[in-house]
Amino acid sequence: MCGIMGYIGNREAQPILINGLRKLEYRGYDSAGIAICDGATIGIRKAKGRIDVLESQTQKSGLQGSIGIGHTRWATHGRPSDENSHPHFDQSGKFSIVHNGIIENYLDLKQELIEKGVTFTSETDTEVIVHLLAQEYDNNLVAAVQKVAGKIRGAFALGVMTEHEPDKLIAVRMASPLIIGVGENENFIGSDIPAILEHTRYVYVLEDGDLAVLTRDSVHVMRLDTTEPIERELMRIEWDKEQAEKDGFAHYMQKEIYEQPRALRNTMTGRIDATQQKVVFPNLQLSETGAKRVEKIYIVACGTAYHAGLIGKHVIERLAQIPVEVDVASEFRYRRPLFHPNTLTIAVSQSGETADTLAAMREAKRNGSAVLAITNVVGSSIARDADDVITTNAGPEIAVASTKAYTSQLIAFYLLGIYLAQAKGTLDAGTRASLLRQLVALPDQVEHILAHADEIRHFAESIKDEQHLFFIGRGLDHAVSMEGSLKLKEISYIHSEAYAAGELKHGTLALIEEGTRVIALATQDELHEKMISNITEVKARGAKVLGITLDGHVELHRSVDDVCLIPQTDALFTPVVGVIPLQLISYYTSVALGNDVDRPRNLAKSVTVE
Ligand code: F6R
Repeated sequence: MCGIMGYIGNREAQPILINGLRKLEYRGYDSAGIAICDGATIGIRKAKGRIDVLESQTQKSGLQGSIGIGHTRWATHGRPSDENSHPHFDQSGKFSIVHNGIIENYLDLKQELIEKGVTFTSETDTEVIVHLLAQEYDNNLVAAVQKVAGKIRGAFALGVMTEHEPDKLIAVRMASPLIIGVGENENFIGSDIPAILEHTRYVYVLEDGDLAVLTRDSVHVMRLDTTEPIERELMRIEWDKEQAEKDGFAHYMQKEIYEQPRALRNTMTGRIDATQQKVVFPNLQLSETGAKRVEKIYIVACGTAYHAGLIGKHVIERLAQIPVEVDVASEFRYRRPLFHPNTLTIAVSQSGETADTLAAMREAKRNGSAVLAITNVVGSSIARDADDVITTNAGPEIAVASTKAYTSQLIAFYLLGIYLAQAKGTLDAGTRASLLRQLVALPDQVEHILAHADEIRHFAESIKDEQHLFFIGRGLDHAVSMEGSLKLKEISYIHSEAYAAGELKHGTLALIEEGTRVIALATQDELHEKMISNITEVKARGAKVLGITLDGHVELHRSVDDVCLIPQTDALFTPVVGVIPLQLISYYTSVALGNDVDRPRNLAKSVTVE
């Protein structure tokens, strides 16, 4: 994990680095630090804790200079502490680096360095890199970095600088994301686009194995094993700065919840042919003829994206009648899945950088499966490794708790399900037109629920002191419950479990007692009566139930203590409207508890370690 920032130009580097790190804090916030070269010497400031701690340190004693590197950390090797914070430096203090990733062979390298007399000042894997660099340096920083890259194994995005060559920054990418921002007489390194967006819209997305040399007015990219320059496409980023910032909302999560109508429209844009009432994917390699041959689908993903995959399974199986299995990506390759010819693997990932998902899709590729990525980040590792990509176009998601990424992934699955059904001939034109009509109505329906968010806030305040909570639902509602439960856990720290409502009586019902709070989703017409029976079961044991159901389902009112109504839509699409109250419940509960909503403890936005 971790976020990296780098600057070389004519302005003071310190505020640029600190502001950039703030935009990357979602990647980890155990500690932060900067190193700045004033043209002759490198100064370092770093501290355990959030960027505010670093900033107050620099306010007391700042660093001057217009070239520097910065880091915000999510601890892997070595606990959060001042010493383990980046940037790291060699014994002479002339080399400094920041690193995102994990060096797998660091213990062997560390032992060798200790035997050569090197003293380590931290417990991190990263520190070996900077000592190796000092040892390999022979008046050529690029050559030294290339030699060190040949010795270390694992994932590493690096920002490197040295007092010996004070007009240069080096960036290296190997299995951890890294971009270069290109400005006017200034250039930037960033783990992600929001870090540099206030300075430039032009970026190079480095490939694994790339090394970039940045000066004030040039960027040269080469591979790690040669000095021959190579071309990388200069991309223009279309997001505006406000889209990547809070825009008047109290938290990024709140802003992102409210951005969902726009995000959902963006996911659909250009993919529905209104005249023919068809789904079209202009950039997809998987043609309808190719899609017709698909006989089996695996969906691999983690966390919230996995929950989107669970809905994807229902959608594809129901619409296109292709059997689908959904796997938690970190388990996938260890269970030795069977790959039949004509298997398609779908990797779902907001960030496009999740190491578990990347590993799972590589396993699928090794076994001959075609891989289609559903991701929010163009140019991400997952997007580039996949044979085909459906981008969700939800805009940057900064809050650790995922919201708009989830609903836009659902839209991507609906579009894909219909597309596969067109190929397979499993959906008649009338049903398809009706589905598309209801699909395009979803953003307005989400807007309608958001306009009544206050009612949900009252409910959230009433559960904030609970220790345990249950979510129940059947079919698609069960999958949505899982997402609601994850959201509540991660930002309110209240323990909750999501249960298939029919499964409760096989054990978990024992936990229901007087006053236990239960959130029951009942949006599926064909399961409605069964759901009412399950609600009655928990009510009979003293549970207090909030029912979430479709507008017009009056019978449920009699069975629950509180009710939240969501607009009518096709049964397949209810997850999009059903999840909104659950997102709001977790958001307002977290706010009522005074938690750090956007940066929950122990977590990071982009999990680039397995
Ligand atoms: C939860 C959450 C995580 C992510 C998971 C996968 O709110 O955000 O569970 O969904 O870490 O991340 P991506 O989608 O970036 O692969």
